[in-house]
Amino acid sequence: MGRKDKAKRFAENETFKCLIQPSMEEVFHRDHPLKGHWGKEIFGNDAPIVLELGCGKGEYTIALAEKYPDRNFIGVDIKGARLWKGAKYATVNNMPNVAFLRTRIEFIDSLFSRDEVSEIWLTFSDPQPKKPNKRLTSKIFNDIYSRFLIKGGLIHLKTDSVLLYESTLEVIAENGYELLESDNDIYGSGRADGDGLLQIKTFYESQFLAKGMKITYLKYRLP
Ligand SMILES: C[S@@+](CC[C@H](N)C(=O)[O-])C[C@H]1O[C@@H](n2cnc3c(N)ncnc32)[C@H](O)[C@@H]1O
Repeated sequence: MGRKDKAKRFAENETFKCLIQPSMEEVFHRDHPLKGHWGKEIFGNDAPIVLELGCGKGEYTIALAEKYPDRNFIGVDIKGARLWKGAKYATVNNMPNVAFLRTRIEFIDSLFSRDEVSEIWLTFSDPQPKKPNKRLTSKIFNDIYSRFLIKGGLIHLKTDSVLLYESTLEVIAENGYELLESDNDIYGSGRADGDGLLQIKTFYESQFLAKGMKITYLKYRLP
């Protein structure tokens, strides 16, 4: 995408009510005013909140929100030009149960309070081959999630990366998390068939599938 197109998207992002773009000062070592208040301030209800972390263009956020109008969905990413796609769709289609949040996931603790989130989707997260602690399924990140995820809240990981899949299985085993589902080839096994949640395809997923790569899935719970 050219610089001009990006600038156009960033300008339009400023107009989307569903897109929250906190400044660094608002989240660095301090709580954001929305922390603990997403239901009331953004959605006007107290329905469960589901996060998609590293959502890119927000395919899961949008598809799940269409499927479950009685739940609220927030797609989180740092890249504004990608978030534009989901925010534009949600705006044009008047989706009351969708929001997007532009922030580094490292600061997410400043944005959600205890028990504010009921479920997390991690879709094609960067595998971070050289920096295991930066993986969104590392113990460090799971500890952060545990501060705002409800008891028994589900974490889903969908990835093409064998490294991320296997290292997450290790993190789950080492830390006594509860593994609920694991599949190292969801299209081969038939798990992604039908109209279930796993057949939703993200932008990256479609590219990996076109290259013939296998897509894996894990579902787990923190203790
Ligand atoms: C490989 S892409 C996947 C995007 C989308 N989920 C998909 O499947 O098409 C990973 C995304 O995670 C975002 N991301 C990676 N690390 C992040 C972080 N620490 N904070 C916020 N976003 C992050 C990137 O900006 C990127 O959009």
